[in-house]
Amino acid sequence: MACLLLIAHSPSENLRAMEASVGDGARLLESEGVRLRQLSPLVATAADVLAADAVILGTPENLGYMSGALKDFFDRSYYGLLNQTDALPFAYYVRAGLDGAGTSRAIESICGGMKWKLVQPALICRGDWRPAFLDDCQELGQAMASGLDLGIF
Ligand SMILES: Cc1cc2nc3c(=O)[nH]c(=O)nc-3n(C[C@H](O)[C@H](O)[C@H](O)COP(=O)(O)O)c2cc1C
Repeated sequence: MACLLLIAHSPSENLRAMEASVGDGARLLESEGVRLRQLSPLVATAADVLAADAVILGTPENLGYMSGALKDFFDRSYYGLLNQTDALPFAYYVRAGLDGAGTSRAIESICGGMKWKLVQPALICRGDWRPAFLDDCQELGQAMASGLDLGIF
């Protein structure tokens, strides 16, 4: 069974709802051969990523950057993943009150350094909260799970 790993930092109610929606979307295909694993970046390790077939990252933008928790995950795992996860399919979402560009740039730079392959457009949920963000998150989870299931990544 393919493993889809969701590493999401969700310190607010809206972010928790976003993480849940990504999970709901991914689980629509769970019976079809894709297993979802959900971890906080504070506990996720390089070994967790090495055991996964695709990854979704989730974070708020704080002070123009990804959350410290997600950065901590990269700090702890980068060298354990470098040269071992080339072309790993990944996607990410950002909850940004105003912008999101700094976080997007940083995630793509770090994951690009590890040669991961971005397989979905960046999902930046920007501005005042809108319930439609949850639909976008669900679609992201579903797209990742179905891509894995169909072997198109
Ligand atoms: C200390 C702090 C710094 C923030 N910095 C940014 C920022 O640089 N860019 C941005 O778009 N939003 C920023 N925000 C807004 C957060 O991204 C937003 O509040 C967070 O994603 C949670 O979303 P929610 O309020 O809908 O739960 C900041 C929020 C806090 C508390």
